[in-house]
Amino acid sequence: MKGIILAGGFGTRMYPITLSTIKQLLPVYDKPMIYYPLSTLMMAGVREILIISTPKDLPRYIELFGDGSHLGLDISYAIQNEPKGLAEAFIIAKNYIQGENVWLILGDNIFFGDKLEETLMKVSKRKEGATVFAYRVKDPERYGVVEFDKNGKPVSIVEKPKEPKSDFAQVGLYYFDKKVSAIAKKQTYSERGELEIVDVVKDYLKRGTLKVERMGSGYAWLDSGTFDSLYDSATFIKVLQTRQGIIVCSPEEVAYRKGYINKKQLLKLAEPLSKSSYGQYLLNLAKEK
Ligand code: G1P
Repeated sequence: MKGIILAGGFGTRMYPITLSTIKQLLPVYDKPMIYYPLSTLMMAGVREILIISTPKDLPRYIELFGDGSHLGLDISYAIQNEPKGLAEAFIIAKNYIQGENVWLILGDNIFFGDKLEETLMKVSKRKEGATVFAYRVKDPERYGVVEFDKNGKPVSIVEKPKEPKSDFAQVGLYYFDKKVSAIAKKQTYSERGELEIVDVVKDYLKRGTLKVERMGSGYAWLDSGTFDSLYDSATFIKVLQTRQGIIVCSPEEVAYRKGYINKKQLLKLAEPLSKSSYGQYLLNLAKEK
C-alpha cells in the first residue's frame, strides 16, 4: 500500500502570501501545513509516500523530509507542472504505485477525530474498490457532492453541483485499488481543464465497488487553502492542543507510537527542536514510560 500527498498548485487563492512561499509549508499554528496530511497517511499505516508538487517547490519538500527514513518512512517525489486535477496524480504516479492500493490526500487538508486512526486502518485493509469520505458542510456546492439512497448507499456523485442533492461533500482523502491509474487514464479533462477525481470515483460507483465512509460530527475536516480557513484551522488546533496538552498530527509522534522509530530516534529528532514547545512535547513523549 502506498500514499500520495498532492501538494501542487500555485496557491493563487492566498496571493500575495504565496507569491514567494509555499502554501503547504505555511504554519497551521505550530507546524507546517503538510505535517497534517502526512500524519494522516501515517495513521492509515502508510509508510511509502510520494509527494507531488511543482518543479519550483519540490526542493523545499526534499529539504524538509529527505528520504523520510528519520521517520521510518520511504518518501519519494514527483512533479506536476500545472494544477491539472487531482486524478492526474495517478497518471504521474503510475510506475510508483506499481499495482498496489493507494491513498491520496490533499496537501492542505486537516483531519481530526477520536476514531480517525481506527477508521483509516479499517479502510487500509480493503483489497478491492475505492473508498471516499463524506462530511456534512454548509456549502456543498463548492465540492464533489455525494447523494445517498434511503439505505445510506451512494447513488451519485457530482462535482460542484448548482443544486446539491445532499449536504455531504467528498473530502480530500481517497483510497483506491490498483486499477486507479488505468481508470484515471480513461478520463478526459473537464471544462476547468482538470482531470477530475469525481470522474474516477464515478467509475467505481458504476461498477458497484465504491464505499463511502461518513465522517460524522465527531470529526473535523478543515482545509487551509484560503486566508479564513487557514486562520480557522490554526485556531482550532491551538485550542485543542493548549486545552489538552496534546499535539495534533506530529509525524514524529505518529512514527513513535506506530513503532516506526524507537525512543532513541525520537530523542534525536526532538533535540534540535527543544527550544520550541513542539520539541519539548516530543522530548517529554520520549521520557514517558
Ligand atoms: C476537489 C475535488 C472535490 C472535493 C474537494 C475536496 O475540489 O474536485 O470533489 O470535494 O477537492 O477538498 P477542488 O479543490 O479541486 O475545487
